[in-house]
Amino acid sequence: MAQYVAAIDQGTTSTRCMLFDHDGKVVSVGQKEHQQIFPRAGWVEHDATEIWGNTREVVGQALARGNASNSDIVAVGITNQRETAVVWDKNTGQPVYNAIVWQDTRTQKICDELGALGGGADRYKDKVGLPLATYFAGPKVRWILDNVDGAREKAERGDLLMGTIDSWLIWNMTGGTDGGLHLTDVSNASRTMLMDYRKLAWDADIAEEMGIPMSMLPEIRSNSEEYGKGRKAGFLAGVPIAGSLGDQQAATFGQVCFTKGMAKNTYGTGNFMLLNTGEEAVPSENGLLTTLCYQLGDAKPVYALEGSIAVTGSLVQWVRDNLGMIKSAPEIEDLARSVDDNGGAYFVPAFSGLFAPHWRSDARGAVVGLTRFVNKGHLARSVDDNGGAYQTREVLDAMNADSGVDLTELRVDGGMVGNELLMQFQADLLGVPVIRPQIPETTALGAAYAAGLAVGFWSDLDELTAKWAEDKRWDPEMSEDQREKYYRQWQKAVTKSLDWVD
Ligand code: G3P
Repeated sequence: MAQYVAAIDQGTTSTRCMLFDHDGKVVSVGQKEHQQIFPRAGWVEHDATEIWGNTREVVGQALARGNASNSDIVAVGITNQRETAVVWDKNTGQPVYNAIVWQDTRTQKICDELGALGGGADRYKDKVGLPLATYFAGPKVRWILDNVDGAREKAERGDLLMGTIDSWLIWNMTGGTDGGLHLTDVSNASRTMLMDYRKLAWDADIAEEMGIPMSMLPEIRSNSEEYGKGRKAGFLAGVPIAGSLGDQQAATFGQVCFTKGMAKNTYGTGNFMLLNTGEEAVPSENGLLTTLCYQLGDAKPVYALEGSIAVTGSLVQWVRDNLGMIKSAPEIEDLARSVDDNGGAYFVPAFSGLFAPHWRSDARGAVVGLTRFVNKGHLARSVDDNGGAYQTREVLDAMNADSGVDLTELRVDGGMVGNELLMQFQADLLGVPVIRPQIPETTALGAAYAAGLAVGFWSDLDELTAKWAEDKRWDPEMSEDQREKYYRQWQKAVTKSLDWVD
C-alpha cells in the first residue's frame, strides 16, 4: 500500500493540498483560488467558509490525482497564511464576520490607542517580539468584537472562538460544532501579539488590554505532534493531524534550516525572510520580528528573526489585474528584459504601508524617478526588481546587524523564484549567492515533514536534511559601485512613500 503524507497549504490567494512520498517528492496537487474581498481602501477580507469548502475540495483533488484514499495517508500537516483572523460561533460553526487578512490596515486606530497607553509601537515588544502594527491578529479580533453587532456580548458569554486559519481548519476537521478541537501552534500563536514568546503561553494582561476574552483563545501546541484525527466524514476521517506551522515557518522547515544561522527567503504574495537563531530568542534592534521558528513535540523551541515584506508578488498581480499591463504574471520578466535597466524608475509598493524594517502604516505606494525616457519596459523592470529584491536587501542588512553575523548565502523559494532576472538581480543587490532547492514547494513540504516526523514516517532532522538538494545558484555579478548606487536610490524612493496618510 502506498504511503503518503498530505499537506494542506492555506495561502493568501489559494488553498492547496499536496501528497508527498517518503522521498519528499510531490505525488499530486489539488489547488483552488478564493475570493479577495476589498470592501474599502486598505481593507482585505476572505470568506472563511469558502476557504473551508475549498480545503475539502483540494484534498479531494489531490487524493483523486494521486490515486490515493484515506488509508494511504499516514498523517496530514497544515500550513497557513499567518495573522489572518477568524472569529466564529462555536454553537453554529459560522464566522461572525469575514476573516480579516494580514494585509488589512483597518486596525491602525486600535494600534495607536494601545500604543498611547505607554511605550508606543514597542508597548508589547519585550513579551511578544512584535511591534504594534496592523499586520498582527490580536487587534483584528478586537476590531471584530467592537464592530460586529452583538459579538462582544457573545464573546463574553463564551460563545465565540478566535483563531488564525490553522485553528479554523483544525476545528472544522476534528468535528466542528460536534466537539472540534480548538488549538493553534506556537508559530501561529507568535503572530497574534497575545503570546509571551518565552513562556509559549497567552499573556492575560495583553489580552485584557486588547479587550479579548481568554475564553476565545485556542490551546497552544507544538508544531509536530498528533493533535487529533480527522472526524469529518469523507474528509481525511481517521487520519492523524500531526503537524501545523505558519507558512513561513513551514518554508523554513522545508528548506531544512535546522541550524542556527541558516536563513530562507520566500517570494510569494509578499516576501518573508527567516533566520534561525537557535534556542535563543534574539530581540531585534533593527525592525525585525522575534518569532517562533518551530517546536517539535516536547523539545525546546527554536526561534527566528523575521523580515516580513507585505507586497512583492502581489505587486505583479496588481500590474496584471489593475493596470492590465500584462496578461499573466510571468510576462513581467519578458517585459522587464526588453530594456537594460530600470531607466531611473523605482516602484515602492507600500500598498499595506511598509512592513520590515520600517513598520510605517502611513506609507503608500510610489513610483519615482520618472522622465520622458521611461517606458513600460522600464516600469516592468522596476516592478520586477521590486519582486522584493530591494526590500530583501533592507531586511538582510537588518538581520546582519541584529545577529552580528553576515549571511553568506540565501536559500530561496516561492512562486517568483522561477524569475531568473529577479534572482540574478537579488544576488547582485545582496552580494551573496542566492540558491534555489530542487523541491521548490518548501511550504507544503515543511508541513508534511512536521506531520511525518510526529508519526514516525521520517525518523529525524538528519534524514530530512539529507533530502535537500540544490537546483540552481545565482552568484553576484554586479560591481560594488553599481550595487550601492541602486540601493541608495531605492532608499531615497522609500522616503517619498512615507507620511502619505493624513
Ligand atoms: O504573514 C503572511 C504570510 O504568512 C502570507 O504568506 O504565502 O500566503 O502570501 P502567503
